Amino acid sequence: MRIIVCGMGVVGQSFLKLLLTSSSSLYKDYGIKPRVIACVDSKGIAFSPTGLDLEKVLATKEKYGSLESFDGPKLTSDNYIEDLDAEAFLELTPTNLSTAEPGLSHIISALRSKKNVITVNKGPLALSFSSLIELSDYNNVMLRFSGTVGGGTPVLDFAKHCLKGDKITSFTGILNGTTNYILTRMADGLPFNEALKDAKEKGYAEANPSLDIDGDDAAAKLVIMANWIMGYKVTLADVEKVGISNIDPNEFAKASEQGKSVKLIAKCDKSELFVKPLPISKDDPICVNGTLNAVTFRSEHSGEQTIIGKGAGGMETASSILRDLIEIKQNMTNYELN
Ligand code: HSE
Repeated sequence: MRIIVCGMGVVGQSFLKLLLTSSSSLYKDYGIKPRVIACVDSKGIAFSPTGLDLEKVLATKEKYGSLESFDGPKLTSDNYIEDLDAEAFLELTPTNLSTAEPGLSHIISALRSKKNVITVNKGPLALSFSSLIELSDYNNVMLRFSGTVGGGTPVLDFAKHCLKGDKITSFTGILNGTTNYILTRMADGLPFNEALKDAKEKGYAEANPSLDIDGDDAAAKLVIMANWIMGYKVTLADVEKVGISNIDPNEFAKASEQGKSVKLIAKCDKSELFVKPLPISKDDPICVNGTLNAVTFRSEHSGEQTIIGKGAGGMETASSILRDLIEIKQNMTNYELN
């Protein structure tokens, strides 16, 4: 399986490390022999038509901070996404919720050239969900995005595949690990700015942390979930959104006296689509701390189920890419068999 990896930040590098440690089980358990033929960052491309030496790619990135000086065959094409032959294109560039670029153009080029796409970039899906799904269907390839919500926790897969025959009517959750970490620290008495600095140092926050604290990251995830799980056709503009930077520190003590915690809550039901800080009962299963994410789904027949797990982290998110890759491989095999 030939793979192009576009975006070599924490998630891209973690994915390469994961491939290095899991190649034998991927082959034994799923029949997948991954061959990464190109890795791309903002300054350069590492390319090998026969499959890159992933240790060399990682070492170059670590030593020089970019792939500009990678020693290998040179690409002659200036449109590598369309011109290279590959079964899967991984779009792992940072999220941009204003224009969705460059991720949106990358995904469109890959789908048009009939490559299956896996992305953890929320921008393109938050702004152009329906048209990207249509484009993937039209080109008969898969667009998968498990890691856009919940990091490595299979929030989307749970809702989409584990409740078949039932109908999810609403869901409520904590969708952003950084703000949950900050709110947890603030409840312990740390001022907002110090809690934010700590979250940045620990590598939880987005490249642009205002995406986390203003609620945009959670809103983007809410849009992806509402479209994919509930079949809505909504974008970021449809979400009522309040961030966490203006919470009065006294709110934490007040909530605690009532057995509650202040959390950045995302909610989707027939009449509401919002992200805002709210006090919730400490007994509510979604009342999790630290960088954890949690979502309670309510369905017509099976009641409420809550899924909880780490919502951020390079290796966790890389594991979601591997899940998507396995699904793509299984789909390709079924297609060949039919
Ligand atoms: N910054 C995001 C979060 C990363 O804190 O949840 C995962 O999407």
